[in-house]
Amino acid sequence: MAGTISLRPSDANQSVRRTQGTHMSMQVQHVNMNLSGKTFLVTGAASGIGLATTRILLSAGANVAACDRDALDSIELGDGDGTLLRLRADISRKADIDASVEFCLQTFDKIDGLLHFAAILDTHQLDELTPEIWDTVMNVNLRGTFLLVQSVAPIMRKQLAGRIVLTASDSARMGSLVSGPAYAASKGGVIALTKTFALGLGKFNITCNAVCPGLTMTGMSSGWSSDLIQGVSNRTPLGRLAQPEEIASVAVFLASDSASFMTGEVVEVNGGIHFD
Ligand SMILES: NC(=O)c1ccc[n+]([C@@H]2O[C@H](COP(=O)([O-])OP(=O)(O)OC[C@H]3O[C@@H](n4cnc5c(N)ncnc54)[C@H](O)[C@@H]3O)[C@@H](O)[C@H]2O)c1
Repeated sequence: MAGTISLRPSDANQSVRRTQGTHMSMQVQHVNMNLSGKTFLVTGAASGIGLATTRILLSAGANVAACDRDALDSIELGDGDGTLLRLRADISRKADIDASVEFCLQTFDKIDGLLHFAAILDTHQLDELTPEIWDTVMNVNLRGTFLLVQSVAPIMRKQLAGRIVLTASDSARMGSLVSGPAYAASKGGVIALTKTFALGLGKFNITCNAVCPGLTMTGMSSGWSSDLIQGVSNRTPLGRLAQPEEIASVAVFLASDSASFMTGEVVEVNGGIHFD
Protein backbone atom coordinates (compact mmCIF):
# COMPACT_ATOMS: atom_id res chain seq x y z
CA MET A 1 0.00 0.00 0.00
CA ALA A 2 1.45 3.36 -1.00
CA GLY A 3 0.84 6.82 0.33
CA THR A 4 0.01 8.45 3.58
CA ILE A 5 -1.63 7.39 6.75
CA SER A 6 -2.55 10.11 9.18
CA LEU A 7 -4.18 9.65 12.50
CA ARG A 8 -6.01 12.08 14.64
CA PRO A 9 -5.66 10.76 18.20
CA SER A 10 -8.84 10.57 20.18
CA ASP A 11 -9.51 13.33 22.65
CA ALA A 12 -9.19 12.59 26.37
CA ASN A 13 -12.59 14.21 26.88
CA GLN A 14 -14.14 12.14 24.17
CA SER A 15 -16.66 10.30 26.33
CA VAL A 16 -17.86 13.55 27.91
CA ARG A 17 -18.29 15.20 24.56
CA ARG A 18 -20.04 12.11 23.18
CA THR A 19 -22.76 12.25 25.79
CA GLN A 20 -23.35 15.92 25.07
CA GLY A 21 -23.35 15.19 21.35
CA THR A 22 -23.48 17.37 18.29
CA HIS A 23 -26.70 18.10 16.47
CA MET A 24 -25.96 15.19 14.13
CA SER A 25 -25.19 12.69 16.90
CA MET A 26 -28.38 13.67 18.74
CA GLN A 27 -30.35 12.99 15.56
CA VAL A 28 -28.53 9.70 15.17
CA GLN A 29 -29.39 8.65 18.73
CA HIS A 30 -33.07 9.42 18.12
CA VAL A 31 -33.18 6.82 15.38
CA ASN A 32 -30.95 4.48 17.42
CA MET A 33 -28.15 4.22 14.91
CA ASN A 34 -25.54 3.90 17.68
CA LEU A 35 -22.65 4.91 15.47
CA SER A 36 -20.56 6.52 18.18
CA GLY A 37 -17.41 4.51 18.88
CA LYS A 38 -18.01 2.12 15.99
CA THR A 39 -15.39 1.57 13.33
CA PHE A 40 -16.07 1.67 9.60
CA LEU A 41 -13.88 1.11 6.57
CA VAL A 42 -15.10 3.37 3.74
CA THR A 43 -13.79 3.00 0.19
CA GLY A 44 -14.06 5.70 -2.45
CA ALA A 45 -13.76 8.24 0.36
CA ALA A 46 -12.08 10.94 -1.75
CA SER A 47 -15.17 11.86 -3.71
CA GLY A 48 -18.94 11.76 -4.09
CA ILE A 49 -20.94 9.25 -2.10
CA GLY A 50 -17.95 7.81 -0.22
CA LEU A 51 -16.87 11.28 0.87
CA ALA A 52 -20.40 12.16 2.02
CA THR A 53 -20.58 8.87 3.95
CA THR A 54 -17.25 9.51 5.65
CA ARG A 55 -18.47 12.93 6.79
CA ILE A 56 -21.76 11.56 8.14
CA LEU A 57 -20.02 8.77 10.06
CA LEU A 58 -17.41 11.08 11.56
CA SER A 59 -20.02 13.63 12.59
CA ALA A 60 -21.92 10.83 14.35
CA GLY A 61 -18.87 9.93 16.45
CA ALA A 62 -17.68 6.87 14.52
CA ASN A 63 -14.08 5.95 13.76
CA VAL A 64 -13.47 5.91 10.02
CA ALA A 65 -10.70 4.30 7.98
CA ALA A 66 -11.15 6.32 4.79
CA CYS A 67 -9.65 4.65 1.74
CA ASP A 68 -9.14 5.75 -1.85
CA ARG A 69 -6.66 5.34 -4.69
CA ASP A 70 -6.38 9.13 -4.68
CA ALA A 71 -4.50 10.91 -1.90
CA LEU A 72 -6.83 12.02 0.88
CA ASP A 73 -4.44 14.45 2.61
CA SER A 74 -5.81 17.61 1.08
CA ILE A 75 -9.49 16.62 1.28
CA GLU A 76 -11.69 17.91 4.09
CA LEU A 77 -13.15 14.63 5.31
CA GLY A 78 -15.09 16.04 8.21
CA ASP A 79 -14.91 16.13 11.95
CA GLY A 80 -16.28 14.36 14.99
CA ASP A 81 -15.39 12.57 18.19
CA GLY A 82 -14.06 9.46 16.49
CA THR A 83 -10.67 8.85 14.94
CA LEU A 84 -9.95 9.30 11.25
CA LEU A 85 -7.44 7.12 9.42
CA ARG A 86 -6.51 8.06 5.86
CA LEU A 87 -5.48 5.13 3.68
CA ARG A 88 -4.31 5.18 0.10
CA ALA A 89 -5.07 1.94 -1.72
CA ASP A 90 -6.10 0.63 -5.11
CA ILE A 91 -8.96 -1.80 -4.59
CA SER A 92 -8.09 -3.76 -7.71
CA ARG A 93 -4.89 -4.85 -5.89
CA LYS A 94 -5.26 -7.56 -3.25
CA ALA A 95 -2.09 -6.47 -1.45
CA ASP A 96 -3.46 -2.93 -1.03
CA ILE A 97 -6.77 -4.21 0.29
CA ASP A 98 -5.24 -6.62 2.76
CA ALA A 99 -2.82 -3.95 4.03
CA SER A 100 -5.68 -1.45 4.50
CA VAL A 101 -7.86 -3.94 6.34
CA GLU A 102 -4.93 -5.03 8.53
CA PHE A 103 -4.01 -1.43 9.36
CA CYS A 104 -7.60 -0.63 10.24
CA LEU A 105 -7.77 -3.68 12.52
CA GLN A 106 -4.44 -2.89 14.22
CA THR A 107 -5.56 0.68 14.86
CA PHE A 108 -9.09 0.05 16.09
CA ASP A 109 -9.09 -3.64 17.13
CA LYS A 110 -12.32 -4.20 15.21
CA ILE A 111 -14.16 -3.43 12.00
CA ASP A 112 -17.88 -2.98 12.58
CA GLY A 113 -18.72 -2.17 9.00
CA LEU A 114 -17.44 -1.98 5.44
CA LEU A 115 -19.05 0.65 3.23
CA HIS A 116 -17.72 0.09 -0.25
CA PHE A 117 -18.24 2.77 -2.88
CA ALA A 118 -15.01 2.83 -4.91
CA ALA A 119 -15.70 2.09 -8.57
CA ILE A 120 -15.04 3.37 -12.06
CA LEU A 121 -17.55 4.29 -14.73
CA ASP A 122 -17.05 3.10 -18.27
CA THR A 123 -19.18 4.35 -21.14
CA HIS A 124 -17.74 2.29 -24.02
CA GLN A 125 -20.62 0.73 -25.91
CA LEU A 126 -20.61 -2.77 -27.39
CA ASP A 127 -18.75 -1.99 -30.60
CA GLU A 128 -16.04 0.05 -28.83
CA LEU A 129 -15.51 -2.18 -25.83
CA THR A 130 -12.22 -4.09 -25.81
CA PRO A 131 -11.29 -7.09 -23.65
CA GLU A 132 -8.72 -4.87 -21.89
CA ILE A 133 -11.32 -2.25 -20.96
CA TRP A 134 -13.71 -4.99 -19.86
CA ASP A 135 -11.01 -6.48 -17.60
CA THR A 136 -10.12 -3.10 -16.09
CA VAL A 137 -13.74 -2.36 -15.17
CA MET A 138 -14.30 -5.84 -13.77
CA ASN A 139 -11.04 -5.75 -11.79
CA VAL A 140 -12.01 -2.57 -9.97
CA ASN A 141 -15.78 -2.86 -9.67
CA LEU A 142 -16.37 -6.58 -9.25
CA ARG A 143 -13.09 -8.27 -8.31
CA GLY A 144 -12.34 -5.39 -5.92
CA THR A 145 -15.70 -5.97 -4.21
CA PHE A 146 -15.03 -9.69 -3.82
CA LEU A 147 -11.50 -9.06 -2.50
CA LEU A 148 -12.63 -6.48 0.04
CA VAL A 149 -15.34 -8.70 1.46
CA GLN A 150 -12.99 -11.69 1.48
CA SER A 151 -10.54 -9.61 3.52
CA VAL A 152 -12.97 -8.22 6.13
CA ALA A 153 -15.18 -11.30 6.51
CA PRO A 154 -12.80 -13.31 8.75
CA ILE A 155 -12.59 -10.36 11.15
CA MET A 156 -16.37 -9.96 11.24
CA ARG A 157 -16.84 -13.71 11.68
CA LYS A 158 -14.59 -13.62 14.76
CA GLN A 159 -16.54 -10.67 16.11
CA LEU A 160 -19.82 -12.46 15.36
CA ALA A 161 -20.99 -9.11 14.04
CA GLY A 162 -20.56 -6.99 10.96
CA ARG A 163 -22.30 -4.80 8.39
CA ILE A 164 -21.31 -4.85 4.75
CA VAL A 165 -22.76 -2.24 2.42
CA LEU A 166 -21.96 -2.51 -1.29
CA THR A 167 -22.93 -0.23 -4.18
CA ALA A 168 -24.90 -1.36 -7.18
CA SER A 169 -26.36 0.81 -9.93
CA ASP A 170 -29.61 1.37 -11.78
CA SER A 171 -27.76 0.36 -14.93
CA ALA A 172 -27.55 -3.22 -13.64
CA ARG A 173 -31.28 -3.41 -13.02
CA MET A 174 -32.58 -1.50 -16.02
CA GLY A 175 -29.73 -1.72 -18.54
CA SER A 176 -28.28 1.53 -19.81
CA LEU A 177 -27.26 3.00 -23.13
CA VAL A 178 -25.25 5.69 -21.31
CA SER A 179 -22.99 3.72 -19.01
CA GLY A 180 -21.70 0.80 -21.05
CA PRO A 181 -22.11 -2.99 -20.82
CA ALA A 182 -18.95 -3.54 -18.76
CA TYR A 183 -20.07 -1.13 -16.03
CA ALA A 184 -23.63 -2.51 -16.02
CA ALA A 185 -22.38 -6.10 -15.87
CA SER A 186 -19.94 -5.28 -13.06
CA LYS A 187 -22.77 -3.79 -11.02
CA GLY A 188 -25.01 -6.76 -11.84
CA GLY A 189 -22.22 -8.87 -10.36
CA VAL A 190 -22.25 -6.72 -7.23
CA ILE A 191 -25.97 -7.45 -6.81
CA ALA A 192 -25.27 -11.19 -7.11
CA LEU A 193 -22.45 -10.91 -4.57
CA THR A 194 -24.69 -8.96 -2.16
CA LYS A 195 -27.23 -11.76 -2.05
CA THR A 196 -24.63 -14.54 -1.99
CA PHE A 197 -22.63 -12.94 0.84
CA ALA A 198 -25.87 -12.34 2.77
CA LEU A 199 -26.70 -16.05 2.52
CA GLY A 200 -23.23 -17.18 3.57
CA LEU A 201 -22.50 -14.70 6.33
CA GLY A 202 -25.88 -14.39 8.04
CA LYS A 203 -25.17 -17.15 10.55
CA PHE A 204 -22.28 -15.06 11.85
CA ASN A 205 -24.57 -12.07 12.45
CA ILE A 206 -23.06 -10.30 9.44
CA THR A 207 -25.45 -8.48 7.14
CA CYS A 208 -24.73 -7.63 3.52
CA ASN A 209 -26.87 -5.13 1.63
CA ALA A 210 -26.36 -2.77 -1.30
CA VAL A 211 -27.49 0.71 -2.14
CA CYS A 212 -28.59 1.11 -5.73
CA PRO A 213 -28.31 4.81 -6.62
CA GLY A 214 -29.97 6.54 -9.49
CA LEU A 215 -28.07 9.33 -11.22
CA THR A 216 -26.26 11.27 -8.50
CA MET A 217 -24.33 14.54 -8.69
CA THR A 218 -20.74 13.40 -8.10
CA GLY A 219 -17.41 13.25 -9.89
CA MET A 220 -18.65 10.16 -11.69
CA SER A 221 -21.59 11.98 -13.28
CA SER A 222 -19.73 15.24 -13.95
CA GLY A 223 -19.26 14.35 -17.63
CA TRP A 224 -22.98 13.82 -18.32
CA SER A 225 -24.51 16.29 -20.77
CA SER A 226 -27.08 18.78 -19.56
CA ASP A 227 -29.60 17.15 -21.96
CA LEU A 228 -29.11 13.79 -20.26
CA ILE A 229 -29.41 15.31 -16.79
CA GLN A 230 -32.56 17.21 -17.77
CA GLY A 231 -34.06 14.11 -19.36
CA VAL A 232 -33.45 11.99 -16.25
CA SER A 233 -34.77 14.76 -14.01
CA ASN A 234 -37.95 15.02 -16.11
CA ARG A 235 -38.57 11.26 -15.81
CA THR A 236 -37.92 11.24 -12.05
CA PRO A 237 -41.01 11.80 -9.86
CA LEU A 238 -38.92 13.90 -7.47
CA GLY A 239 -37.87 16.00 -10.47
CA ARG A 240 -34.10 16.09 -9.92
CA LEU A 241 -30.92 14.08 -9.49
CA ALA A 242 -29.68 12.85 -6.11
CA GLN A 243 -27.12 14.67 -4.01
CA PRO A 244 -24.40 12.31 -2.69
CA GLU A 245 -25.58 12.80 0.92
CA GLU A 246 -28.98 11.35 -0.05
CA ILE A 247 -27.36 8.06 -1.05
CA ALA A 248 -24.84 8.16 1.81
CA SER A 249 -27.54 8.50 4.48
CA VAL A 250 -29.21 5.30 3.28
CA ALA A 251 -25.86 3.49 3.22
CA VAL A 252 -25.17 4.65 6.79
CA PHE A 253 -28.58 3.39 7.86
CA LEU A 254 -27.75 -0.03 6.36
CA ALA A 255 -24.47 -0.02 8.32
CA SER A 256 -26.21 0.86 11.59
CA ASP A 257 -27.99 -1.06 14.33
CA SER A 258 -31.27 0.20 12.92
CA ALA A 259 -30.86 -2.18 9.97
CA SER A 260 -30.00 -5.22 12.12
CA PHE A 261 -32.62 -7.48 10.51
CA MET A 262 -32.03 -6.46 6.89
CA THR A 263 -29.77 -8.53 4.69
CA GLY A 264 -29.52 -9.42 1.01
CA GLU A 265 -31.41 -6.26 0.05
CA VAL A 266 -30.58 -3.98 -2.86
CA VAL A 267 -32.10 -0.68 -1.84
CA GLU A 268 -33.14 1.65 -4.66
CA VAL A 269 -32.37 5.30 -3.96
CA ASN A 270 -33.40 6.90 -7.21
CA GLY A 271 -36.09 9.53 -6.67
CA GLY A 272 -38.70 7.07 -7.94
CA ILE A 273 -37.51 6.89 -11.57
CA HIS A 274 -38.48 3.23 -11.30
CA PHE A 275 -39.69 0.97 -8.53
CA ASP A 276 -41.12 -2.55 -8.11
N1 LIG B 1 -22.88 9.00 -9.40
C1 LIG B 1 -23.84 8.23 -9.90
O1 LIG B 1 -24.70 8.69 -10.68
C2 LIG B 1 -23.92 6.78 -9.52
C3 LIG B 1 -25.05 6.05 -9.94
C4 LIG B 1 -25.13 4.71 -9.61
C5 LIG B 1 -24.13 4.10 -8.87
N2 LIG B 1 -23.04 4.85 -8.48
C6 LIG B 1 -22.02 4.14 -7.71
O2 LIG B 1 -21.78 4.87 -6.51
C7 LIG B 1 -20.45 4.61 -6.07
C8 LIG B 1 -19.76 5.93 -5.73
O3 LIG B 1 -19.64 6.66 -6.93
P1 LIG B 1 -19.58 8.25 -6.96
O4 LIG B 1 -20.70 8.70 -7.81
O5 LIG B 1 -19.44 8.79 -5.59
O6 LIG B 1 -18.26 8.40 -7.83
P2 LIG B 1 -16.94 9.28 -7.63
O7 LIG B 1 -16.21 9.11 -8.91
O8 LIG B 1 -17.29 10.64 -7.17
O9 LIG B 1 -16.17 8.52 -6.47
C9 LIG B 1 -15.59 7.25 -6.69
C10 LIG B 1 -14.32 7.17 -5.85
O10 LIG B 1 -13.76 5.85 -6.03
C11 LIG B 1 -12.36 5.99 -6.13
N3 LIG B 1 -11.80 4.85 -6.86
C12 LIG B 1 -11.98 4.52 -8.15
N4 LIG B 1 -11.26 3.46 -8.48
C13 LIG B 1 -10.59 3.09 -7.35
C14 LIG B 1 -9.68 2.05 -7.05
N5 LIG B 1 -9.26 1.18 -7.98
N6 LIG B 1 -9.20 1.96 -5.80
C15 LIG B 1 -9.60 2.84 -4.84
N7 LIG B 1 -10.45 3.85 -5.08
C16 LIG B 1 -10.95 3.98 -6.32
C17 LIG B 1 -12.15 7.30 -6.90
O11 LIG B 1 -10.84 7.80 -6.72
C18 LIG B 1 -13.24 8.16 -6.29
O12 LIG B 1 -12.76 8.89 -5.17
C19 LIG B 1 -19.76 3.83 -7.18
O13 LIG B 1 -19.76 2.46 -6.85
C20 LIG B 1 -20.67 4.07 -8.38
O14 LIG B 1 -20.58 3.03 -9.32
C21 LIG B 1 -22.92 6.17 -8.78
